[in-house]
Amino acid sequence: MPIVVVVGGQWGDEGKGRIVDLLARKAKVVARYSAGNNAGHTIVNDRGEFKLHLVPAGIFYPEKTCVIGNGVAVDPEVLLGEIEGLQAKSIDTSRLVLSDRAQVIMPWHRLLDQLEEARRGDAAIGTTGKGVGPCFTDKVARRGIRVADLLRAEDLVPRMRAALDYQNRVVTCVYDAEPIRFEDCFDTYIEYGKRLAPFVGDVQEIVLDAHRRGEHVLLEGAQGSLLDLDHGTYPFVTSSVPSSSSSGAALGVGIGPTDISRVVGVFKSYSTRVGNGPFPTELFDSVADQLRDHGKEFGRGEYGTTTGRPRRIGWLDAVAARYSVRFNGLAALALTRLDVLDDIATIKICTSYELDGEIIDTLPARESVLNKVRPVYEELPGWQTPTEHVRSFDDLPPQAQAFIKRVEELLGCPVDLISVGPSREQAVIVNPIF
Ligand code: GDP
Ligand code: IMO
Ligand code: MG
Repeated sequence: MPIVVVVGGQWGDEGKGRIVDLLARKAKVVARYSAGNNAGHTIVNDRGEFKLHLVPAGIFYPEKTCVIGNGVAVDPEVLLGEIEGLQAKSIDTSRLVLSDRAQVIMPWHRLLDQLEEARRGDAAIGTTGKGVGPCFTDKVARRGIRVADLLRAEDLVPRMRAALDYQNRVVTCVYDAEPIRFEDCFDTYIEYGKRLAPFVGDVQEIVLDAHRRGEHVLLEGAQGSLLDLDHGTYPFVTSSVPSSSSSGAALGVGIGPTDISRVVGVFKSYSTRVGNGPFPTELFDSVADQLRDHGKEFGRGEYGTTTGRPRRIGWLDAVAARYSVRFNGLAALALTRLDVLDDIATIKICTSYELDGEIIDTLPARESVLNKVRPVYEELPGWQTPTEHVRSFDDLPPQAQAFIKRVEELLGCPVDLISVGPSREQAVIVNPIF
């Protein structure tokens, strides 16, 4: 039975949480495989509206196992807070399992994230400041602390002392800041370990067991492929390796790449980006404001789920999207926020870039070049009629159908699902993904 990966195809916030919440209906296991609480996934369903940072979006269905894989960076305070928040709304969290191999975000990671952003000045990445980058840096440098280490003082003491010995040199010598005292954080983290212990388990076994039993498994990506450490707009990317490309999915829950049967890419009907870095189709006009503030009165405008920052807005970039389709090996697209375009008279799609008088149709690797390209647009007539109540492709206005067909052509991938609103039922299923 299929293991399906859901990845963000652009710069994040494409609506992955919303799509996973919909698809999870038919899955037995839903797993987060990468990133940390830099992610913010919004889910609107019959239980209410939720913003999840670490807990997989399958948690709202009874009898689904939700796992946080080894590929995730876990801030225990955030995870425990999220679990308590869900419990307070009567959501059963007893089916949540946390990998003992997941990395832990420690106080020095948050501190280093902020110090390094300040040091970069104008060249700041615009991180979420949650310590995710420094945590993954430590993972690769082999001085990270894992969930398993939190469970026993005999494991945590030496690892924390060694980490602090190194990090305090960095904090004081590189950044000229105050060191962190072991005594100020040890008790807190041992306590977190005790509270997390009931959730800790063997994630790999859970995923593979479900797979062997013929049950559907959904792997929930975080961020977007263009923030990928390898394939994204480096250095303005996130730090997980490779956090959002689908090959990271197998690594992040401990299965083989051949166990994955399908990768679904979630794309917005336009583009957004939070944080700094190249964004060829970025808009600075009233259309940007209109798209950003659609639904703002209900708290649903384009403002970061994790940081509340206004998202940068642009037209759909088919050059970047096609690149993302290719390196993710996408078999299907889920196109979200179609309804946000309902009032737009003329919709643009970037089909290629102009670079020094030449037309190119690939994403340049060099940041300085990517900053220089100018989008070449194709214009399509808008439909200027509401779509939020539409549930079948044939009932979409002809202009909306033409827009979707053009997206399929330009990206070289079928649109199997169209989202016309944030709620679970506001979807047009063209081809069932499971
Ligand atoms: P994620 O990080 O990819 O899960 O996306 P976010 O939750 O950060 O941002 C997506 C936003 O769009 C959330 O506020 C969703 O509730 C909302 N959303 C998702 N799909 C749709 C849709 O089709 N239409 C509208 N209007 N909102 C949507
Ligand atoms: P979801 O899962 C949008 C961006 C940050 C910044 C860059 C690096 O909700 O789509 P980091 O804190 O990861 O070191 O910041 O990556 N970023 C996201 N942007 N959605 C996300 O997650 C993001 N996670 C990180 O804004 O530009
Ligand atoms: Mg988000």
